[in-house]
Amino acid sequence: MTKGKIFVLCLFLATVGFMVEAQDTIALPSPRYDSEMSVEQALNSRKTVRQFKAEAIELGELSQLLWAAGGGMFDGVTSATRTYPSAGGIYPLGIYVVAGWVAEVDSGIYQYLWKDHALKRVKSGDFRQPLASVALRQGFIAQAPVIFIITANYRRTEGKYGQRGRDRYVPLDAGHASQNLHLQAAALNLATATVGAFSDGGVNRILNLDDEEPILIIPVGRPLDE
Ligand SMILES: Cc1cc2nc3c(=O)[nH]c(=O)nc-3n(C[C@H](O)[C@H](O)[C@H](O)COP(=O)(O)O)c2cc1C
Repeated sequence: MTKGKIFVLCLFLATVGFMVEAQDTIALPSPRYDSEMSVEQALNSRKTVRQFKAEAIELGELSQLLWAAGGGMFDGVTSATRTYPSAGGIYPLGIYVVAGWVAEVDSGIYQYLWKDHALKRVKSGDFRQPLASVALRQGFIAQAPVIFIITANYRRTEGKYGQRGRDRYVPLDAGHASQNLHLQAAALNLATATVGAFSDGGVNRILNLDDEEPILIIPVGRPLDE
């Protein structure tokens, strides 16, 4: 093979590699740092909703929800690095998205990369129904256009704080992150539910989790009663 042909072949392989990479990672639009709704109004409107409109979630809404749940802070004044507090600054949580009906996003399971504010594809396909099945068949979960799953690598916090880290700090971290998500959803006039009743093994299998465990499932959509 001539040098010219080898060069063209390398260029072709690099382009294909870039395209595969580009499809597997979705850059999210930048989040907004202000809103028409006050924190008080969001607190006053948050409630568990178990019926959702058959309507897609916009990519901008998904971006905003992910940022609120666990994105980076862009405020040099407070020196905080994420949108929620974490014991010892360890941040053992992961955020996964089970996308069923999100504009510009193929159905699939994605991991949130908070440093890049991007989504990385884990699997393709609609996994909402299988997820509802392993959550005690709570059918409303599969009706939500998008479902968030908060996971944790317990060992990271346990390594520093032992049993107290496992029993208290990790669930507290998850509570902080999930409340951010609920309030942000309320501010966007979106509806959420919290689901803690599920088979850990079932969710592990769906998400291909390795060194993490699922903590909460949070279906999100537009409320049916609007
Ligand atoms: C840790 C936790 C686990 C929950 N698990 C479920 C669940 O599996 N299914 C469900 O329908 N609701 C679940 N909920 C929602 C509660 O039932 C709901 O938050 C409570 O009834 C209060 O209602 P509100 O959220 O509208 O204020 C859970 C809530 C929490 C905090």
